[in-house]
Amino acid sequence: MADFDGLIARYRALSPDLLKTVRAGKKILIATHIDADGICSGSIAFAALMRKGANVALRAIPDLDQGSIRELDAAKFDFYIFTDLASTLINELDAAFGPRYLVLDHHEIAEGDAAKPSVVNAWAFGYDGGKEGCSSAMAYFFALAIDPTNQDLSPLAVVGALADRQDGGPGRSVTGLNRAAAEDAQSRGLMRVTKDLMFTGRETRPVHEAIALTSSPFLKGLTGSKDAVLAALHQSGLALKDQGTWRTISSLTPDEKMKLTEVIATTLGPAEGATEAIASLVGEAYTFDFEDPFTPLRDAREFGTLLNACGRMGAAGIGVSVCLGDRSEALRSAMKTLSEYRSGINKALEALASEPSRMEQHGNLVLVRGEGIVDEKLLGPVISILTSSPEFKDKVLVGRAESRGGDLKISSRVGDAYGGSVNLGAIMREAAEAVDGVGGGHAMAAGAKIPSSKADSFSKAVLDRVSP
Ligand code: C5P
Repeated sequence: MADFDGLIARYRALSPDLLKTVRAGKKILIATHIDADGICSGSIAFAALMRKGANVALRAIPDLDQGSIRELDAAKFDFYIFTDLASTLINELDAAFGPRYLVLDHHEIAEGDAAKPSVVNAWAFGYDGGKEGCSSAMAYFFALAIDPTNQDLSPLAVVGALADRQDGGPGRSVTGLNRAAAEDAQSRGLMRVTKDLMFTGRETRPVHEAIALTSSPFLKGLTGSKDAVLAALHQSGLALKDQGTWRTISSLTPDEKMKLTEVIATTLGPAEGATEAIASLVGEAYTFDFEDPFTPLRDAREFGTLLNACGRMGAAGIGVSVCLGDRSEALRSAMKTLSEYRSGINKALEALASEPSRMEQHGNLVLVRGEGIVDEKLLGPVISILTSSPEFKDKVLVGRAESRGGDLKISSRVGDAYGGSVNLGAIMREAAEAVDGVGGGHAMAAGAKIPSSKADSFSKAVLDRVSP
């Protein structure tokens, strides 16, 4: 059972000591993960401390390991806060920092570690950290315990949840701790929750572009192909322009939205998974009306995609600036990064589609050999998109790409319609450790780094652990 009051009490109990550290002018470093949930949670914690006049810095890192702990230690901060990171490295943090650290996280954690005084983890308060409590929501309630006026940071908690795909509640809604943050955003008038068509760019893009940009769900024949969408829409007679200006999905009337859904259903035809794809097109939309209508920040899901793009493309700092309110140079740069990210993903998907032999199927498991054609930075999103396609949505996908120093980067995802039960976090950790690599993550999405020379043994270790 979720213990929201217990979590809040825990935060209230630790905030006086933290504020004492702040008032003493101690140097504080927040180390966060580079993905969108990491960028949001780090930004929330940073804003909360900065508003109290803290001497605080923020650093985004791809993965925490022994080496990065040593580097952080060498940077000689007085106190360290880890967001969206570190739950599997508590002993190492104890050894390096003693009582001078705090972890706010939602990754799975050993029970003994979760009970330590420096650790606040969603799982320890009855929340499934993979589904109903992202790191940004954890950071948000931490910020609220520091000062109730930090409620204005609630939209970032929703962005982090959606970017971590924690919208598995009814009608693609957020649940649990994420819901509590969403309710704060709604009650302060910062966020509008409506039932709408879930196309990417719902508020910002011409209708045909929004449909072509949508990859979750994957719309076979339409995703990635503006021309195919335009052709289908022209036949339907739907008015795509209003006085010469392209209309957006959100500007369509309910009848027009219905018509649009019918056009898509007709185009997808009786293909496997088409009915589910159509059903998952309708869901809870989270809109920030205070953002410019023509930026990706207006829709919480798109905001998350923008931040994920920044993180993956090595521009996490730009993402942080956007979270902290920069709507000029940083936003322009983030949008440019997003367009490069999208085109990199499309190229990788096209390259994989033209070489089907790279998708090795073993029962319910598909091994994706992306070496040479998928950039390691884009492997995670590429595998995520493939798992939401009708072809692979009932499978487990494990992809690989070349990494630096003779290593392979591994990304794994479970399709929504997968019938079995797997915990990819555990599988990646065990299979990677068996070949001198490191791995971990969540039940439905996890990753690893392994030596290239051990690729076959790693694949075998994964195959042995995924039930056929
Ligand atoms: O890199 P990728 O997107 O595939 O990672 C999926 C999930 O697995 C992320 O939440 C990431 O933080 C986690 N992960 C981890 N330990 C690793 C690699 C990935 O916890 N060594």
